[in-house]
Amino acid sequence: MSNERPVPRNEEIELDNTKYIESETDTKGIITDANDYFCEISGYKKEELIGQPHNIVRHPDMPKIAFKLVWDRIKSGKNINAAIKNLAKDGRYYWVFTHFEIIRDINTKEITGYRAYRKAVSRHVKEILDPLYKKLVELEKEGGMEASEKYLNEVLAEAGEEVTFDNLLEEIHRLY
Ligand SMILES: Cc1cc2nc3c(=O)[nH]c(=O)nc-3n(C[C@H](O)[C@H](O)[C@H](O)COP(=O)(O)O)c2cc1C
Repeated sequence: MSNERPVPRNEEIELDNTKYIESETDTKGIITDANDYFCEISGYKKEELIGQPHNIVRHPDMPKIAFKLVWDRIKSGKNINAAIKNLAKDGRYYWVFTHFEIIRDINTKEITGYRAYRKAVSRHVKEILDPLYKKLVELEKEGGMEASEKYLNEVLAEAGEEVTFDNLLEEIHRLY
């Protein structure tokens, strides 16, 4: 498979809000399973996805800090929710509310992988997160993840004491 990344274009893929985009990875984030809806929306065949790192659908508008928070959390064995803008094979984008879960060995209870379920995100959430993520990406270009983490923490603190990156989506519905 070629390593060339799709060239992003400013065109959104509308999701069917009755369907889930699902995938599973090993502990390193290599895709081990993908459902049909994931293939349909991303534009990749199942065999193009399996065995690839999950950043195959990473969009350049996504800040690194978002994935750091996701990985820190799931590696510690806890689930997390995050809104993610993804890049399809044809360069279009699609926003997903993503619920990350831990897969454990039934006997040893050791983490053997992760699973993600994704649903459509409301326009309201996208309108708030799009400029926030763009600002975080900008800060990362200048001052790395330290700068974006600091800014994100300030935004969360300003939104309220209980607001975390994990519950940001629900809080957006409540606050804005
Ligand atoms: C189960 C699972 C699902 C993931 N789903 C996505 C996804 O839909 N989009 C995405 O950009 N990254 C996803 N990631 C995170 C990627 O592994 C990766 O950290 C991210 O794309 C950033 O790429 P980078 O680590 O090369 O900077 C997922 C990770 C896991 C464990």
